[in-house]
Amino acid sequence: PVLSQDELKKLAADKAVESVKSGMILGLGTGSTAAFVVDKLGQLLSTGQLSNIIGIPTSKRTQEQAASLNIPLSTLDSHPHIDLAIDGADEVDPNLDLVKGRGGALLREKMVEAASSSFIVVADDSKLVSGLGGSGLAMPVEVVQFCWKYNLVRLQGLFKELGCEAKLRVDGSEKPYVTDNGNYIVDLYFQNPIKDGFGAGKEISALEGVVEHGLFLGMATSVIIAGKTGVEIMNK
Ligand code: A5P
Repeated sequence: PVLSQDELKKLAADKAVESVKSGMILGLGTGSTAAFVVDKLGQLLSTGQLSNIIGIPTSKRTQEQAASLNIPLSTLDSHPHIDLAIDGADEVDPNLDLVKGRGGALLREKMVEAASSSFIVVADDSKLVSGLGGSGLAMPVEVVQFCWKYNLVRLQGLFKELGCEAKLRVDGSEKPYVTDNGNYIVDLYFQNPIKDGFGAGKEISALEGVVEHGLFLGMATSVIIAGKTGVEIMNK
């Protein structure tokens, strides 16, 4: 039988949860794939197959989902060292570098995942790219609301030679999308993949008023990809 995209996401999620042990501090990701992880954790806690888990959510959405499943929650303030984070991604390249944040949660995701000893990415095989920015989909940058247009123009200017187009993210009613942190998102669309991810990340972060970008480089310790032929694990 051919599996649906949701079934693939669930397959990857369930595989990742096999790495969770009782007593762990867990980073809880955001997005449709990460939601399957949180569901599974809730199930295993309710049946007693897991115990003493503490979840550190990466968004208000995930916080609500986890709370509704009675997963005990805390914050980086109280738990600055996380054992394992599990999250989805928008793009995964062969070096396990990622684009994240199409769901808008990039800032908290990056803070939580950077504080984790291990970071497992879960995705279906539609997320695989040969170079970041190469999917034609957005690479998000979180910016302060103040003079966002000024920063949009500066961001677009940084990547002129990649045919970059920058757009302010809007919600369903065409109002600016506001992140959990009260900021805006500028989405960058590239015609050609980014060659030097670290260089690009540095240049973006150097702009005053940029809060965070969606390049997650050197952070994932493994990636679980579900596709037609089953689950594949990519390791560093
Ligand atoms: C949320 O901000 C993102 O980083 C998600 O992790 C990413 O968009 C993947 O989401 P899906 O699992 O829904 O594709």
